[in-house]
Amino acid sequence: AGSGKFFVGGNWKCNGTKDSVSKLVSELNAATLEPDVDVVVAPPFIYIDQVKNSLTDRIELSAQNVWVGKGGAYTGEISAEQLVDIGCKWVILGHSERRNIGENDDFIGKKAAYALSQNVKVIACIGELLEEREAGKTFDVCFRQMKAYADNITNWTDVVIAYEPVWAIGTGKVASPEQAQEVHAAIRDWLKTNVSPDVASSIRIIYGGSVNAGNCADLAKKEDIDGFLVGGASLKGPDFATIINSVT
Ligand code: G3P
Repeated sequence: AGSGKFFVGGNWKCNGTKDSVSKLVSELNAATLEPDVDVVVAPPFIYIDQVKNSLTDRIELSAQNVWVGKGGAYTGEISAEQLVDIGCKWVILGHSERRNIGENDDFIGKKAAYALSQNVKVIACIGELLEEREAGKTFDVCFRQMKAYADNITNWTDVVIAYEPVWAIGTGKVASPEQAQEVHAAIRDWLKTNVSPDVASSIRIIYGGSVNAGNCADLAKKEDIDGFLVGGASLKGPDFATIINSVT
C-alpha cells in the first residue's frame, strides 16, 4: 500500500437472498474494522436499500452498474440520480463480467463521466484476458482501457482504479504480489504521463481477482497496491473483515 487511504470493496455480484443478505449485514456490523480504511460493499441493485437501512454507516454502498445518462424511458436500467436518491455513493464500472456481455471501452467511459457528474464515485475496472497476458499484451490492454476512462473523465478525485486480471477472477488463481505490483506501477506511470503527476500519485489502484483472507496480507505490502476489490470472499463477513484489516 502506498497511495491514499487503503480501500476495500466487496462486490457481491448476482448473489444472495433477503435472508443471506441480512446475515452478511449482521456479520459486517459485528466486525472490528481498522479505522484507516475506506470500505464499500456492492450488493445487487434489488438489495441495496435493504443493506443501506441495516448496515453500519462505517461502510458505504456501491452499485454494480448504472445507466449511461439521465434516467427516463430505459427499461431495466437504474440511473445515477436514483443511486443518489437512496444514498448509494459508488458504482463499479467496466467489470470484466459486463465487458464480456457487450459493454465496450467507450460506453464504460461515458458511464463513468455521467456517474461522476451526478456525484456518484466510480470504481473503474480494467484487466487483461489470459490470452492477452500470454501474448504479452497486458500493458497494451490496460492502457487502452485506461485511455477510454481518461478520454471521458475530467476530475479523478472520486475515482478508484481496480486492476482485475480476468484470469484471476473467480478462478482461485490470484496474481502474485509481483505480478499485480508490476501492472499497478505501470498504470500509475501511464497516469503520470497521460493525465497528471498529481492524479498518478494520489489515486488508489486496487487489486481484484481471487483475493482471500489468506493471500491479502502479502499483496497489501506492495507499494502500488492500495486496496482490494473482493468477490467471493466478500460474501463471508469474517473473511472480508480480515481483508479490510490487512492494511499496512
Ligand atoms: O470485482 C471483484 C471480482 O471480480 C473478483 O472476484 O471472486 O475472484 O474475488 P473474486
